Amino acid sequence: GLGVLNIPVYVHVVYSNSAQNISDNQIASQITVLNEDFRLANSDASQLPAEFSNDITDTEIEFTLAGTFRHANSTGSWGTNDAVKYAYPPVTPETHLNIWVCNIGGGILGYAQFPGGPANTDGVVVGAQYFGTTGYVSAPFDGGRTTTHEVGHYLNLRHIWGDGRCNRDDFVADTPKSDAPNYGCPSYPTYNCKSNDMTMNYMDYVDDACMYMFSDGQRNRMRALFAPGGVREGL
Ligand code: ARG
Ligand code: ZN
Ligand code: CA
Repeated sequence: GLGVLNIPVYVHVVYSNSAQNISDNQIASQITVLNEDFRLANSDASQLPAEFSNDITDTEIEFTLAGTFRHANSTGSWGTNDAVKYAYPPVTPETHLNIWVCNIGGGILGYAQFPGGPANTDGVVVGAQYFGTTGYVSAPFDGGRTTTHEVGHYLNLRHIWGDGRCNRDDFVADTPKSDAPNYGCPSYPTYNCKSNDMTMNYMDYVDDACMYMFSDGQRNRMRALFAPGGVREGL
């Protein structure tokens, strides 16, 4: 096998006020959450219902902060059209995960590009208030899970409801079918499409405190990108 994979990360902090110029500590807290979540070292995983105990997994993917770039810019809201990436292009996206931290606006927590897209927009964007667990963070999205979710997309994961009504797939066999996103903190069981939703999966839309797992099928889908000839082999 490929063993434990390590992804070097560049963080671009783009700020229009001093609060958005988040601290090195806040950035470090996000890298910690990524490593906990992708290595199944997150303590909240102990809440998992027994039904899913054979599905939860350590993805054996780790993250190391390789550099931080800070940019003052008077733009108040960047939207989701990649403008922040054109303003501050990704640095060696072939070998590094680039994360832009800025105010997106419109209540958007984050957005990501799937693998195989253009190099000049490769990476993920996360709102400053939803990045990390300390400093300028905003409940209930102050657990660093927005970045875990977006990095899931960056590594080829779809939303677990497949963005469809029971009949669309996320291309992962062990995430049960669902008809729509779940929000807040759903109680177990949440039944849709003739099975219990895996609401606690990072690729649902629940609050940070209520998502705490990747599945085996998701692990395999992500790790396939790193195999010889895979889209993210260079990482
Ligand atoms: N809505 C965003 C997306 O689809 C992020 C959702 C993150 N959820 C969270 N609880 N942090 O990419
Ligand atoms: Zn998403
Ligand atoms: Ca599935």
